[in-house]
Amino acid sequence: MAAKPRVAVTRVIPDAGLDLVREATDMRLWEDPLPPSADELDTLLTDASGALTLLTDLIDGPLLDRHPSLKVVSNFAVGFDNVDIDAATERGVAVCNTPGVLTETTAEMAFTLMMASARRVSEAIDYVRAGKWKTWGPTLLLGQDVVGATLGIVGFGRIGRELARMARGFNMTIMVYDPYEDPKAAEEFGVTYVSLDDLLRESDFVSLHAVLTDDTHHMISTGQFRAMKPTAVLVNAARGPVIDTDALVEALREGEIFAAGLDVTDPEPLPADHPLVALPNCTVVPHIASATVTSRDNMAILAANNLLAVLNDETPEAIVNPDVLKR
Ligand code: GLV
Repeated sequence: MAAKPRVAVTRVIPDAGLDLVREATDMRLWEDPLPPSADELDTLLTDASGALTLLTDLIDGPLLDRHPSLKVVSNFAVGFDNVDIDAATERGVAVCNTPGVLTETTAEMAFTLMMASARRVSEAIDYVRAGKWKTWGPTLLLGQDVVGATLGIVGFGRIGRELARMARGFNMTIMVYDPYEDPKAAEEFGVTYVSLDDLLRESDFVSLHAVLTDDTHHMISTGQFRAMKPTAVLVNAARGPVIDTDALVEALREGEIFAAGLDVTDPEPLPADHPLVALPNCTVVPHIASATVTSRDNMAILAANNLLAVLNDETPEAIVNPDVLKR
């Protein structure tokens, strides 16, 4: 019987996927709740042919050069900005991700942050906890309406489209910015493609769903905040660095926008003494948009199956750089 392939798993993921890896491989598991350091990751990856990684693991060219035995990096995430895809492709390493299984769950969190920010939910909870609730108040904690408002979606991939579908149930007018325009999708989801400038100027809610690249890094900064309505709500469930954090702090402090709802931040994690945490008009949750039992189980299964497929010379369900399979 052939020896089982050696595989590194960089954190404990749900059993639904972990058991698949455990059964089929010689698995080395990082059991600490915090990610391995760069040195610890190197030790974990020694002689591994596969790695099941998290978005907190930086996988770059030098790391791949130190581990030439690696055939596959299977990321437990739909995003893969923690992996240098060009470096992996040049070295023939397959990179896999988990699209599809977290689409609705992530859009749901974007919608939750829209609602919570518009209706000042975290501020209201703090108000009650602080014992300030003395009577019903005609002007207490006034927010913004969601029903019938204009939603601007930046990045119209799977998650952006799902958010549009949900927003139609709230009778929202939806405009979209994405450099790759898909007229069929515009018709199907009842949205209009516009420039980023027009979207920022006209939207009551702006929700970010763009992939983090050099082009989208700090896509929302001082000039963009100035273009937005003072009543606007900004939501980010994509990647933190799409927003210029210092500019966001300033915009929230100065009332250039009404509120922000953030699932992702820059830096991440956000220290408890960061100005964004203290701002009453900023709702921050710790990168949990895909965190439901079902979605995390399905991500674990998909990440495990992707990993095992490449190790078995089969085609994985989700691969970011399919060209490496042709070699
Ligand atoms: C989470 O951010 C993911 O990319 O899946």
